[in-house]
Amino acid sequence: MERIDKIISNELNVARSDAKSLIKSGKVFVNGVCEKSASRKLDEEKDILNVCGKVIQFRKFVYIMMHKPKGVISSTDGRKTNEKTVVDILPQDMKRKNLFPAGRLDKNTTGFMLITDDGEFAHKILSPKNHVPKTYIASLDQPFDEDVIKAFSEGITIGNDECLPAVLEAVNGDYKTAKVIIKQGMYHQIKRMFKSFGIEVVELKRIKMGKLALDDQLAEGECRYLDEFELELINSN
Ligand code: URA
Repeated sequence: MERIDKIISNELNVARSDAKSLIKSGKVFVNGVCEKSASRKLDEEKDILNVCGKVIQFRKFVYIMMHKPKGVISSTDGRKTNEKTVVDILPQDMKRKNLFPAGRLDKNTTGFMLITDDGEFAHKILSPKNHVPKTYIASLDQPFDEDVIKAFSEGITIGNDECLPAVLEAVNGDYKTAKVIIKQGMYHQIKRMFKSFGIEVVELKRIKMGKLALDDQLAEGECRYLDEFELELINSN
């Protein structure tokens, strides 16, 4: 159960005071009856909320799979650098308060980006302790060899950063296209791991989080909500 002013503020991405004004002005209906009390609590299982003639779906948290395009940053605020963020490019009807990207992808990395407002879930899947694997496809400027595979599998050290053991495989026998599975999300981790063997990552795409693959129906920049079953798949290793 959640207060109606909080729900409206979250779902419509407006200030709490604006939500209260909407309620006062008689534009809010619960189960067909005008509701004028901002402290009324709604049950997300049963109650139907209508604001200004439109039914508003309300959920405690949302989980969005985005196929991140190049050129947007995975932060919540790009104002300082005048850059667009993954949250900025969400469709208007998916925007709501407190959304943030769970984890980081570099500006020129594409692929599976999870956007949510559930901090606890994000922490769970990002913490290296929980060993949720993240799978990437990397195009390289030169082929890797068995020595690199072995080193990745034992866990390499880059400067002060210790990388947990990672899986490295050639894709379709092509040693310039790598499938990499890591369980951490350190700054530029995959690029730095290859760089320590003199190999440049030319393109990088995340194709999976846990056991959930990026939906191949999503073009770059597109997104959709995830269901509970899919969340379970993310949270598994
Ligand atoms: N590793 C990188 O180097 N970049 C990413 O965006 C993700 C993992």
